[in-house]
Amino acid sequence: MNLISERCDWQTFSLYVLQSQQKCIAVFALVCCFAVLVALIFSAVDVWGEDEDGVTEENCSKNCRIVLVENIPGELSFNSTTHVPLSVGLNHLLDQAKLSVEIVSPYWALTSTDQGSRLYSAYQGQYLFQRLLNLKSRGVKLKIVSDQPNSIELKSMSDRYAEVRYVNMTALTRGRLLSCFWVVDRKHIYIGSAGMNWKALSKLKEIGVIVYDCSCLALDLHRIFSFYWQLQYRDYIPSIWSKRVTAVFSRDQPLQLRLNNTDASAYVSTSPDLFCPKGRSRDIDAIRHVIREAKRFIYISVTDYLPLVNRSFRGSPIIRYWSPIDEMLREAVVLREVKVRLLISLWSRTHPLTFNFITSMQALCTGLPVCSIEVRFYRGKEQMGGFQHRINENKFMVTDNAGYIGNLDWIGSEFAFNAGAGLVIQESEDQRKGQDSIVEQLTAAFERDWFSPYTISLLSGSTTLQESQHGRQKLQSLKTKAESREHE
Ligand SMILES: *[C@@H]1O[C@H](CO)[C@@H](O)[C@H](O)[C@H]1NC(C)=O
Ligand SMILES: *[C@@H]1O[C@H](CO)[C@@H](O)[C@H](O)[C@H]1NC(C)=O
Ligand SMILES: *[C@@H]1O[C@H](CO)[C@@H](O)[C@H](O)[C@H]1NC(C)=O
Ligand SMILES: *[C@@H]1O[C@H](CO)[C@@H](O)[C@H](O)[C@H]1NC(C)=O
Ligand SMILES: *[C@@H]1O[C@H](CO)[C@@H](O)[C@H](O)[C@H]1NC(C)=O
Repeated sequence: MNLISERCDWQTFSLYVLQSQQKCIAVFALVCCFAVLVALIFSAVDVWGEDEDGVTEENCSKNCRIVLVENIPGELSFNSTTHVPLSVGLNHLLDQAKLSVEIVSPYWALTSTDQGSRLYSAYQGQYLFQRLLNLKSRGVKLKIVSDQPNSIELKSMSDRYAEVRYVNMTALTRGRLLSCFWVVDRKHIYIGSAGMNWKALSKLKEIGVIVYDCSCLALDLHRIFSFYWQLQYRDYIPSIWSKRVTAVFSRDQPLQLRLNNTDASAYVSTSPDLFCPKGRSRDIDAIRHVIREAKRFIYISVTDYLPLVNRSFRGSPIIRYWSPIDEMLREAVVLREVKVRLLISLWSRTHPLTFNFITSMQALCTGLPVCSIEVRFYRGKEQMGGFQHRINENKFMVTDNAGYIGNLDWIGSEFAFNAGAGLVIQESEDQRKGQDSIVEQLTAAFERDWFSPYTISLLSGSTTLQESQHGRQKLQSLKTKAESREHE
């Protein structure tokens, strides 16, 4: 009896040991699985953000000041007020810097050694370059991201002080890093058309904004910078992103802020799609949204406008019609009776088909009493080598209730392959209460250019142009006209 029970116990015991061993193995296997999973997740999230100095979306500052900055080439004269010169604005921004200056620019040619730089007009570029290097003596960090590995200027900057990181855009999207903005102390920002090029501070027509004391916007723009910063040496974009590079504000959840004591909302957008994590608004969606919300007018000032995407597939180009902006404009003009004005540059790189797309858009209004779409060409006087530039580099849109300041021209291929950023500011008319707001200043800047003697209307004296069959010829005749006016 005893024996049996003992044997029984022994059996239970060995059964128990066996079971706990199995449990152990099961637990061990689970732990292993978990560890492998964690390792997998962590290896996938390889775009980490930078430390954000404790500023969070809850306690960032929303009481901001905004200043419109412009570069107006010296030989242009405008009657109405111009705004703070770009060089003054950027230098002032550098005065504010206490901790860090982060810069993305498509080009670095502040101290270009080509023939123009010996001129007085190149002085502003050289001065800015020196001031950037002098940040070292003030203990302010200088971080730069670029897609130009062979830039001599960047090389000399990184040898002397700056931390420079290189993004291989060829490997990522076969495009360019055309983003153009500054983040200073995670508090102040600059965004606009002007890159770090001496010509942008003297010979080209540029526009941008500087926003002071706005750590909320700066935090979001810094995250875009931080994302580029992490792309160094990469030839692919990971599928999982760290929270520190994802969007804080977006089209659907814009930042509510005060700009010079006016209530407004704002957010930043980026391109291309591949560079937009979940929640980040795409440039193209920002533009479409601003167009859709316009009630009375839409003014657009860009160097080039072309609704085409030109891809290269196995060495041969495949060209597609790219409709997102074109269709929104057509809808606004015809169905909502919003007045559209499009100011494009006429220069050596103006694509011949530009003219065809523009005329087709204008033809939409045929026979409609309340329908207005006007196009004017800004005559760029180029002659790049021997100076005389004054091309209109502006890349902005303003409507009765919003402004969009971007980095890219409105060409399908730009949005598809190139990296850029944009800033949308919305202010309703009753919020403005007659105050001088940024939307009004942008409108005034646009109207000043539009009515200036430097533009040519598409329709002025154009009977022969309209009769002409080929866009190429039309454009050529416009270009010749521009040049002959230039010599008057
Ligand atoms: C914001 O909040 C975080 C934690 O929530 C804190 O560490 C940080 O110091 C705060 N920053 C400011 C500027 O108040
Ligand atoms: C300035 O105003 C005068 C008179 O109103 C006009 O003739 C001239 O074209 C204007 N110039 C510019 C650059 O707008
Ligand atoms: C960038 O990537 C392309 C394609 O992957 C490669 O051919 C090129 O050498 C890379 N450039 C640099 C500077 O690493
Ligand atoms: C497309 O790109 C190719 C190569 O870059 C160029 O030769 C061609 O002219 C472009 N076509 C258009 C319509 O822009
Ligand atoms: C905002 O205020 C600053 C000075 O405090 C001024 O220079 C700037 O022009 C103002 N901006 C607007 C849009 O009124």
